[in-house]
Amino acid sequence: MIDPFGRAITYLRVSVTDRCDLRCVYCMAEDMTFLPRGALLDLEELDRLCAAFIRLGTRKIRLTGGEPLVRRGVMTLFRSLGARLGHGLDELSVTTNASQLARFAGDLAAAGVKRVNVSLDTLDAGKFTSITRWGRLERVLEGIFAARDAGLAVKINTVAVRGLNEDEIDSLLAWCGEQGFDLCLIEIMPMGEIDASRSEQYLPLSLVRSRLARHWTLTESAYHSGGPARYFDVAETGRRIGFITPMSHNFCESCNRVRLTCTGTLYMCLGQDTSSDLRAVLRSGADEAALEEAIRAAVARKPKGHDFLIAAPGESSGLAGEAPPAVARHMNVTGG
Ligand code: 5AD
Ligand code: SF4
Repeated sequence: MIDPFGRAITYLRVSVTDRCDLRCVYCMAEDMTFLPRGALLDLEELDRLCAAFIRLGTRKIRLTGGEPLVRRGVMTLFRSLGARLGHGLDELSVTTNASQLARFAGDLAAAGVKRVNVSLDTLDAGKFTSITRWGRLERVLEGIFAARDAGLAVKINTVAVRGLNEDEIDSLLAWCGEQGFDLCLIEIMPMGEIDASRSEQYLPLSLVRSRLARHWTLTESAYHSGGPARYFDVAETGRRIGFITPMSHNFCESCNRVRLTCTGTLYMCLGQDTSSDLRAVLRSGADEAALEEAIRAAVARKPKGHDFLIAAPGESSGLAGEAPPAVARHMNVTGG
């Protein structure tokens, strides 16, 4: 599928649940309300939609959430998608907070998953609990090591949060080097209402990179994951570090993805509201041809890019004066 701007759409991200067992401060409000379970597509419907995308040229599928591993029965979906590897699908992966990974790492590897992206913002147990509101670092580390022991390649995704983990990026980089993990830093994006001020949380990665350059030799890498990250080789660790900078650098030109929510809404862009209700199509009794047509029609409406904007700290007068989020939905709805 080619979108109106000539981009080949070969990557589908599927948020299998909006629920999560953590409440990261930049992602969710503490008292988030989640979708009623009845609104969710069942696992067979998700599999059927994914199969249609694969027939239309999707080569890579990532399951996300919320926290994908808290959805009951999700391994059934991993296994059915895994069976499509080599039959149109090249890669099946997952983004997880690793809280349940110790339990599932072996099953994921057996289903054909080769790599996992783990969201981890700090290696300090106290800070971990304050960022996630109630998570336990120890459990997450167990999950990460279980994944490595199961033969999965681990990439650590770290959201850079001003005043929270900015003093720890060096140690995260060193730790990832020791453990054999790649590290990818992410800028905060204004998605959904949270309890705090995003402009106070926002830390430009340009600043983080120049600070890192004091202690590490970073050289721009030829490596591209096909995603929004720009990679640098870290001479001292022999590993890579990626920077995802939606706010200070626009990465939309090479976008290859669309995002399916657990209710069957297809979002064409993380930062725009353009969407298509595929659940309605599915449940109207559409045959495979009609389903494929609905997907093609949706991709034909993919916007050029996002319009993320976070007010500068000086411009905001606390929560009330803050610019509204670029999109009303939280990251856990569209999938991180
Ligand atoms: N801005 C940037 N990243 C976010 N994530 C969740 N909410 C936001 C946000 N507002 C990240 C998580 C995880 C991934 C799923 O998305 O930390 O790395
Ligand atoms: Fe859960 Fe990930 Fe959001 Fe944290 S960032 S609350 S782990 S979905």
